Amino acid sequence: MKAIILSGGKGTRLRPLTYTGAKQLVPVANKPILWYGIESIVRAGVTDIGIIISPETGEEVKAKTGNGDRFGANITYILQEQPAGLAHAVKVARPFLGDSPFVMYLGDNLIQNELGQFMTNFKEQHMDALIMLRPVSNPTAFGVAEVDAQGRVLHLVEKPKVPPSNLALVGIYFFANTIHAAIDRIQPSARGELEITDAIQNLIDHKNHVEARQIEGWWLDTGKKDDLLEANQIVLDTCLQSAILGEVDARSQISGRVQIGEGSKLINCTVRGPVVIGNNCHLENCFIGPYSSVADEVTLIDADLEHSVILRGAKVVGIQQRIVDSVVGQRAQLKLAPQRPKALRFMIGDDSQIELA
Ligand code: G1P
Repeated sequence: MKAIILSGGKGTRLRPLTYTGAKQLVPVANKPILWYGIESIVRAGVTDIGIIISPETGEEVKAKTGNGDRFGANITYILQEQPAGLAHAVKVARPFLGDSPFVMYLGDNLIQNELGQFMTNFKEQHMDALIMLRPVSNPTAFGVAEVDAQGRVLHLVEKPKVPPSNLALVGIYFFANTIHAAIDRIQPSARGELEITDAIQNLIDHKNHVEARQIEGWWLDTGKKDDLLEANQIVLDTCLQSAILGEVDARSQISGRVQIGEGSKLINCTVRGPVVIGNNCHLENCFIGPYSSVADEVTLIDADLEHSVILRGAKVVGIQQRIVDSVVGQRAQLKLAPQRPKALRFMIGDDSQIELA
């Protein structure tokens, strides 16, 4: 069994963060989203992993993720020159995959379930494809499946205007080598892409063995700001373990599950977990409330925040109103004068959103 993880795409829905980086590298609880997928695949016993990268962000993904040693895996990078669809990515990965069965994982998806049980089912029952489904409130944004009472897939359709059900296709798929012939038989969709959804439908049309499983645990597709904050909340809730490696002075109070990285200093701060603070941060006179992730090298002085994600090297100074539901990009700076400010001075990146609520 091999695995491919798709880590291309432009990440338009996460702009401006994705102007300077890949959406799959945006951190959830201080770890790139992509790494959760790699770890989950390795836990299921698959260590031969191909990561599909794009010309725009490929080098960054490579530099950050490496050859797989840190995960106990062997990672091969595969360049997809054009964003021509998920099935096109499989085509590009064909030399890497050979005739091996494989799991295909979209790099911005996160699921709670372990993959092992699905993989065992897929192998033992000699399926051509196993897909995962989950009910959603907005099926038009996904691939959607129509299933019969026994859970057999009748029909799949990509981003339907009139969805046949509320069961969305999760971005994690198991395939036998028969998928390659199906991909060769399909044509690009109306948006000009070779859709994996169409290739699976083609397997069904050719009476191949396709099954679906509904997943019960949470599923997050971290393509947008609110999804990112939700993913951050769920991962902090379910996975964070306390560890205080940095320095916390006597005036600071820490409660709940809190992680503070090496070289970080907290002076007169109140931290209520779950909260993760990275390495080499400086926090002074701050309140850091639940569901906050503060990346490495962040400075927070006289600041008050909760349910927010602060990325590497950002600086927030003198903001006494509580910052909530916010994402602050890498190296961004937010400062307020000690007295009531007479003027507001901004240098705001393209597609930024600022709400003085
Ligand atoms: C892709 C698939 C879609 C699936 C979704 C899951 O959509 O085409 O079928 O439901 O991933 O995340 P995209 O996110 O590329 O629009």
